[in-house]
Amino acid sequence: MAPPAARPLARPPHVTRPPAPPIGRRSAARPSRRVPIGPPASRDARPGPAPPPPRCPATGAPAHWPPRLARCRGPAPAPVSMATPQAEGGGGGGGAKRGRRLVETGGVAGVVTSRRNGLYKGRRRSRRSRREMEGSYAAAAEAADWLRGRLGGVSPRVGLICGSGLGGLAGALEGAQSAPYGDVPHFKPASVPGHAGRVVWGLLGGVPVIVLQGRSHLYEGHGPAQVALPVRALALLGVHTLVLTNAAGSLRRPLQPGQLLLLRDHIDLPGLAGNGVLVGPNDERFGPRFPVMAAAYDPGLRRAALALAPPALRPRPGVYAGVSGPAYETPAECRLLRRLGADAVGMSTVGEAAAARHLGLRVLGLSLITNMAAGGGASDEEEEEEEEEAEGAGPGAATPSEHAAVLEAAEGGARLIRQLLVALAPLLANRDAPGEGAGP
Ligand code: HPA
Repeated sequence: MAPPAARPLARPPHVTRPPAPPIGRRSAARPSRRVPIGPPASRDARPGPAPPPPRCPATGAPAHWPPRLARCRGPAPAPVSMATPQAEGGGGGGGAKRGRRLVETGGVAGVVTSRRNGLYKGRRRSRRSRREMEGSYAAAAEAADWLRGRLGGVSPRVGLICGSGLGGLAGALEGAQSAPYGDVPHFKPASVPGHAGRVVWGLLGGVPVIVLQGRSHLYEGHGPAQVALPVRALALLGVHTLVLTNAAGSLRRPLQPGQLLLLRDHIDLPGLAGNGVLVGPNDERFGPRFPVMAAAYDPGLRRAALALAPPALRPRPGVYAGVSGPAYETPAECRLLRRLGADAVGMSTVGEAAAARHLGLRVLGLSLITNMAAGGGASDEEEEEEEEEAEGAGPGAATPSEHAAVLEAAEGGARLIRQLLVALAPLLANRDAPGEGAGP
């Protein structure tokens, strides 16, 4: 059988474009290889004359195939300012000026944001724009503007991000008010048990503080830029000191559940693997291309926290390993992390710390130890022996940590951490409080 006649490559409909005007060497004698707009020709039919492109009844502009006319919403409404909260709608279609501005700022979900080659790009453009928008200056500025509007003249200089089960830390605030993340432009609603997904603001020991009850994690499928976004928004709001808290698994036996690890340093495993929050074009408005991460966790604040923590927390300084999760670590991974010098492991914090240092914020990192990470935190030799013994004991012998147990342990420790934060509040608020020099 003769080979079938060559046909133009069938493009998926979403990459079809209207026929381009002749440019360069392309001429009428050499027909364009572009696939005309319209339903794809059947496999056997030779491509015939293109049917006329579907048009938006409101504007007459050509639309995509398959038709997405519903998204072509007719003439553009009046432009909105950058500061207009996304929650208020803020979208519209068409209008070259409007389109250009929205492309710069990333556009708003589900609306027509630009014209190109006379085509409305509709939702496809919006989705891409939203990805570009994640963690961008414009997104952080919109979130900060929205928060500023809600805070009514209060200017918190201290931010607090609550880890799993630690949302109760906001209970230390007097005169607290809150808003769900879903209302804050570009914040993602929380999807993890133990994270309320709320912004709370009020006074902590007389000091205005803004608290994020919940965070975005890589394991939720958020990009690193989304992890950085709330930190950037807080910085643009005026926060100069950020307290990062988390629930973590201990990698060493002397560090027991219920103890507080004051972060002296971290190992950012996603960052080392190329998935860091600062990967990509650098926006100098946030900070320099190559931020220094030595003394990322403020030594003065750490020493003060060490001195002021309730004794029941048995505080000690140490190194936190950030992993992307969501699977808890295997015993071999725990051994690896221990050999790397980590004392505790968790699935958060390191990206936020990197974003915060990029912005020049002071950072205090607090890990509440909620469990022994798999492997029990023994020395390598002991642990290998334990694993061998456990092998004969059947399933469940080496039980991984369970999220519900982690949350319960965290909620128990939150009360004590609240006391610590109240005692620390004046130091947190005073950016110029003298550090006590390099220490533990
Ligand atoms: N591993 C990772 N993240 C965690 C753990 C753990 O053991 N405990 C609380 N968060």
